[in-house]
Amino acid sequence: MLTSIKTNHLTNEGQKLGMMYFRVAIILFGAQLIMGLIAAIQFLAPGFLFELFDFSVARMVHINALVVWMLYAMIGSTYMMLTDETGHEGVAIGLGKLGFWVLTAAVTVVVLVYILVQVGPGEESTLWLINEGREYIEAPRWADIGIVVVVLIFYFNVFATYMKGEKTGIMTVMVANLLALAGLYLAGMFYTDNISMDQFWWWWVIHLWVEATWEVFVGTLAAYALIKIIGAKREVVEMWLWIEVLMLFGSGILGMGHHYFWIGTPEYWWEIGALFSALEPVPLIAMFVHVLYDWGKEQGIHEAKGEAKSVIANGPAMSWLVLNAFGNFLGAGIWGFFHTLPQVNIYTHGTQFTAAHGHLSFFGAYATILIGMMYYGLQRTYGLERMKSTFKSKMGIFLIAFGVMGMTIALTISGYEQVLVERAELGATWNGFFIAQNLPWYIQGQLWRAIMGVVTFVGFIYLVWDLLTIGKVSKEAAA
Ligand code: HEM
Ligand code: HEM
Ligand SMILES: [Fe+2]
Repeated sequence: MLTSIKTNHLTNEGQKLGMMYFRVAIILFGAQLIMGLIAAIQFLAPGFLFELFDFSVARMVHINALVVWMLYAMIGSTYMMLTDETGHEGVAIGLGKLGFWVLTAAVTVVVLVYILVQVGPGEESTLWLINEGREYIEAPRWADIGIVVVVLIFYFNVFATYMKGEKTGIMTVMVANLLALAGLYLAGMFYTDNISMDQFWWWWVIHLWVEATWEVFVGTLAAYALIKIIGAKREVVEMWLWIEVLMLFGSGILGMGHHYFWIGTPEYWWEIGALFSALEPVPLIAMFVHVLYDWGKEQGIHEAKGEAKSVIANGPAMSWLVLNAFGNFLGAGIWGFFHTLPQVNIYTHGTQFTAAHGHLSFFGAYATILIGMMYYGLQRTYGLERMKSTFKSKMGIFLIAFGVMGMTIALTISGYEQVLVERAELGATWNGFFIAQNLPWYIQGQLWRAIMGVVTFVGFIYLVWDLLTIGKVSKEAAA
């Protein structure tokens, strides 16, 4: 990936910019994992780095880095496909590059401030300079404003290019959805003293991102990737995409009610949240079926023509795409459905069960397909017709998937124990909370999470090693 900076076959500035976003994304992914490992150790040994690098800080950087690397990779993916889909070289990409450097400088400063200023008073100036205190999107005000400016530039690149170029169905969904996605960020920017109101709006960002606009984004990426990687037919792919969009928004928008059970919002949200969020797995099943169906169909057509070779033009990208189909359905669909009805959520709310779902869903639905897009970007960068998985690609995907699944199972067991002991038996009391945390099932779950976290990290090292070398290796093999 680094060599690709110099020996670059991309003549297209938009795609070059996409690769720049990918490079930062992967670095932030690494930072996320290191922070996760520190926080996981602190679950087992609470004194670890106490007052040097507290759990609150490690956890905060862990989940903020998660959101930021994914946004970087999403912007990168958009630039990768923008010029391709529209058949236009891209409008004002130079400005987009400036935006990239501004954003990256801002992210660096924000992270340094998180790490250097760990504790202090919570004042008006804290909101502006240090931290906004909203889980997942903690960036202070000044950075918020900077982010909005950079996103406006990005959106201008996308919109203006779309207007000038060819308007495919995929691009139309992309352009409309990005407007909603970016606009929702604003809901997390204003401040109120009322915690219920604050949470009400905060969920507009978090839930309406991950269960509506980000999912639609994944739909467009998968559609594009299927066309590029296995030569799926555009008409079929776009028809599926429109159905997915309808189902995702139809269930996901009001499904937000499943976060309004506990924050002081009116009780009618129980029914709304229960009904609509229970429907949310349906589009995820559709997305799963679609990817596998198209793959089977294209391979079948290929073989019927007497061509024995696999229909897949990019092995690692396709592996990650298929993992996305499974992971999205399992992590968001199944693990989400488990606790989405108020009758269940009354026991599971805020236990390690939630953390289990959070890990598998973010990984399954987003990390997977975004990594797939990075591999696709590399294939373009090196101008390769085919790119096969290497040993490192396989180790990377296997260890990461195995590690995250292992962490999820471990946390599910810890959460199950909390539900039984802390919630059901001891009636969700303060005392119950501590008793449950000291029982072996809980502690062993945390231990296995840490072990599986290390497995994930080893997988990540293979992934980076592969991303750095696969282009060159494939190029030499092709020659
Ligand atoms: C890719 C999509 C999804 C992602 C990334 C995701 C991620 C998360 C995360 C990180 C949380 C914890 C939030 C917090 O810090 O409080 C959460 C909570 C929750 N998610 Fe999801 N989720 C997704 C889809 C779903 C779906 C489809 C459902 C239901 C079918 C669902 C049901 C829930 C529920 C009920 C909670 C609240 C848990 C509690 O009360 O503690 N999620 N989700
Ligand atoms: C080295 C691997 C990892 C380790 C050791 C790790 C560890 C942790 C720890 C200790 C927490 C705090 C949990 C709590 O407050 O109870 C956490 C939260 C979280 N992590 Fe990870 N993590 C890892 C990888 C990942 C990955 C790959 C993702 C997703 C792509 C992810 C997504 C999240 C999310 C969404 C939360 C917040 C969950 C919630 O509040 O419900 N983590 N992680
Ligand atoms: Fe949600």
